[in-house]
Amino acid sequence: MDRIRRALFPAAGLGTRFLPATKAQPKEMLVLVDKPIIQYAVEEAVNSGLTNLVIITGRGKNAIEDHFDVSFELERILEDRGKSDLLTLVRAVSDMVHIAYVRQKEALGLGHAILVARDLVGCEPFAVLLGDDIIDAEIPCMRQMMDIYERYKASVVAIMEVPAAEVSRYGIIDGIPLEGNDGRVFDVKRMVEKPRIENSPSHLAIIGRYILTPAIFDVLEKTGRGAGGEIQLTDGLQNLLAQERILAYRFRGKRYDAGEKLGFLKTTVEFALKNKDIGREFRSYLKSLNLDEY
Ligand code: G1P
Repeated sequence: MDRIRRALFPAAGLGTRFLPATKAQPKEMLVLVDKPIIQYAVEEAVNSGLTNLVIITGRGKNAIEDHFDVSFELERILEDRGKSDLLTLVRAVSDMVHIAYVRQKEALGLGHAILVARDLVGCEPFAVLLGDDIIDAEIPCMRQMMDIYERYKASVVAIMEVPAAEVSRYGIIDGIPLEGNDGRVFDVKRMVEKPRIENSPSHLAIIGRYILTPAIFDVLEKTGRGAGGEIQLTDGLQNLLAQERILAYRFRGKRYDAGEKLGFLKTTVEFALKNKDIGREFRSYLKSLNLDEY
């Protein structure tokens, strides 16, 4: 099968977990230190060698398109004022990639979002990155997964171990470890979207990174609504298992959940501490706080 060139970024969700902040602003544009959340996943894809990007948007998401586009007015003003550092920063974002946009008219779930991009993907294997999951890794997580795909030519989902109390927030897999690969690659036997603890086949949770073969499209067309009344990608993948092998890959790196308030704050603190411009000062500020006062 072909090499992977395309990456999809589903971004049509309503962002209800961040209301009222997301009433008039897409959640993907919430700022993590100095960049909007979605830029982290886009950079991961670019650093993995993916050049053909598709963002699946919806109503009220225009700010995402503007962010990755050229901003003539802003560039002109920065140029006139001699702010060359800022100009370089602003230009870097639009120079980084060419992005196509497709709209998901109704928020019917992740599986539905993938189907909306079917015509733009065609008959090639492709990557999916969920922007809520931010992964800090020496080798970009998607690049690691592409290496697995190239070796086995099968769909790959990223996984990590989560505590029992959290299994109901994720797609969970049941898998058999493959020989070698440091025990990081599993042959998936079954997967379930957001199971209750007592029905969960394991603690291995799917994280928002996927490499999918185009066979997923026909399967998703026939997949009914699942958890939360939505067309779930996990259900589609479970159905795909009847036809094709699917691998799960325990990636190297640290995953941050920027998709809910507490996770977003934790991510902000850690990324701020690692930031080369403000990290040191932020660290001494945190140390100066007397937490008992709060
Ligand atoms: C989605 C997927 C789920 C996966 C999770 C990872 O859920 O449906 O299988 O475990 O992303 O973040 P969501 O967080 O959109 O409810």
